[in-house]
Amino acid sequence: MPPFETKPEAGYTPVAKALHWLVVALLFCQYALAWTMPHMGRDTKPDRMINLHLSFGLLILLVLAIRLAWRWTHREPTPPAGLPAWMVRSSRAIHYLLYGLLVLLPLLGWINASFRGFDVSLFGLLRLPPLIAARTPGFAWTGDVHSLLSNYLLLPLAGLHITAALYHRLVRKDRVLERMLPAAWT
Ligand code: HEM
Repeated sequence: MPPFETKPEAGYTPVAKALHWLVVALLFCQYALAWTMPHMGRDTKPDRMINLHLSFGLLILLVLAIRLAWRWTHREPTPPAGLPAWMVRSSRAIHYLLYGLLVLLPLLGWINASFRGFDVSLFGLLRLPPLIAARTPGFAWTGDVHSLLSNYLLLPLAGLHITAALYHRLVRKDRVLERMLPAAWT
């Protein structure tokens, strides 16, 4: 299958748009939880906020898996004519980095929650297995790396992604942003 949709005016499919905006909404909730939940020390027992952080993170992982499956079975829209090749390449690189981080971060969080001996479940409805045994030596770093990458890599990359979308809309005045907006807004 060619990587791009053949009709230049085509946007993303309604399913791709819904999954994109669902991940955005879940990330808003996830950062609000991450920045207000209690600090986790060695003997912290997970409270409601921490459990919600674990559940929203797992939900993001689940939606991402569906999103990647959709992405690999459906064409993406053709880049607008006249877009420099470096821009197309760098935007794809950022998209892949974002996808990669949105898989890696929840997995690191899940490993760290397992390391801490937390029960990990999806909103208390579906219990998930630990990824490693509690206090497995050599895994203490997973929490710090999870927090650092979430705060200092995912957020700046998301900022770059949003800046690029606004640049297309306000400076180049092409349809790049519109292709991902709900049909009613375009
Ligand atoms: C994309 C999904 C996720 C994002 C963006 C995210 C974000 C964050 C952030 C920003 C922090 C640091 C909070 C602070 O600044 O103090 C954090 C901490 C933490 N998160 Fe997540 N998280 C995600 C998924 C998960 C998942 C799925 C789990 C477990 C199932 C999890 C478990 C944890 C734990 C245990 C900590 C404490 C780490 C430590 O301080 O040692 N997270 N998360």
